[in-house]
Amino acid sequence: MFEQVTAAPPDSILGLTEAFKKDARPEKLNLSVGVFKDDKGRTPVLKCVKEAERRLLEGESSKTYLSIEGSPEYGRAVRELMFGADHEIVRSNRACTAQCPGGTGALRVAADFVKKLFPSATAWFSTPTWPNHQGIFKSAGLAVASYPYFDAAKNGLDLTGMIAALNTVAAGDVVVLHGCCHNPSGVDPTPEQWTQIADVVLGRGALPLLDFAYQGFGRGLKEDSVGLLTLARPGAEMLVASSFSKNFGLYNERVGALTLVAKDAAVAETALSQIKTCIRTNYSNPPSHGGAVVATVLNDATLRQQWDAELAEMRNRINGMRTLFQKTMESRKTGRDWSFITQQTGMFSFSGLKPEQVDMLRDKFAIYIVRDGRINVAGMSAETMDRLCDAIVAVL
Ligand SMILES: Cc1ncc(COP(=O)(O)O)c(C=O)c1O
Repeated sequence: MFEQVTAAPPDSILGLTEAFKKDARPEKLNLSVGVFKDDKGRTPVLKCVKEAERRLLEGESSKTYLSIEGSPEYGRAVRELMFGADHEIVRSNRACTAQCPGGTGALRVAADFVKKLFPSATAWFSTPTWPNHQGIFKSAGLAVASYPYFDAAKNGLDLTGMIAALNTVAAGDVVVLHGCCHNPSGVDPTPEQWTQIADVVLGRGALPLLDFAYQGFGRGLKEDSVGLLTLARPGAEMLVASSFSKNFGLYNERVGALTLVAKDAAVAETALSQIKTCIRTNYSNPPSHGGAVVATVLNDATLRQQWDAELAEMRNRINGMRTLFQKTMESRKTGRDWSFITQQTGMFSFSGLKPEQVDMLRDKFAIYIVRDGRINVAGMSAETMDRLCDAIVAVL
């Protein structure tokens, strides 16, 4: 049977890392992959994570299964982090959370849940979006559609196009929104724009699904939840897919969560029973370790403080690189406006480079970025900035 199988194309982003590893040029630079790097190019384990792991290792007495929806302490910590402990959604228990293997796992459980309960729903995604988004929802058997998001001419949000498309969404459709630090563009709506987006999505009777993979990587934990809190109107429903891969640096532990917000606590509990059947037939119950680390950190005042500081350090490094990149490009007198780099947030930036220019960067300068022009700002360093900017000027 397997002889008839033809090779699948390599993943658009992870495939680049494979090519990067094979590249023998010592000066090579990988700005394609979606992980944080410090100024030495390392992706470190956070100190608060190490300490939580030490405590967990000492205190661990069993490796028995978690329940299908995972640890309740984790679920509570996730909701409090997102909404704030005093938020009406948290206090009324009208939200429930399932611990999932990464943000990807949470998105897949969400897609399976929607397909099972609302099979005729269409899932809507920004253009562009994280390349895995549509694949996940198509794999679950759902129809997908797109709404405009990025305006290349002004290197910002195409709010008019976005609102016009969202005004055609049917009641019961799912609108996937990036909570903050939009991947790949780095362009987020302002608080006022979020209000307009929420008015349309909720007004149409659509279900917002917030993909929240970068809380704390943009402007701050609270600041980055403005979209989520704008959608969290009294009685309004939504789904949130969280990931702690980036803000806790727990990439390979696969830790995420799916939170369902319903009209009231009884509806939320019934809906959770359906989410549990999706999980049971998929991976049965979640891996424990990453969620236990996150819950340990969030539920301990000292570790929580340490995490806030370490997260701020990552965020400040990224924003520092944005400023330096803009300054260095401006010093090259390209005649272009580079200020968009510091207006964008999170790990990614759309450079505006064309696929041929991206190819030239790789072939001539051993610099790897995603073909759509997405640059991982966290892959930059002060040491390599001049070389990177000179190479960009050369391909421009
Ligand atoms: C927008 C977005 N959503 C979800 C994810 C998935 O995160 P995880 O690695 O936790 O599965 C990513 C990861 O790159 C992402 O960029």
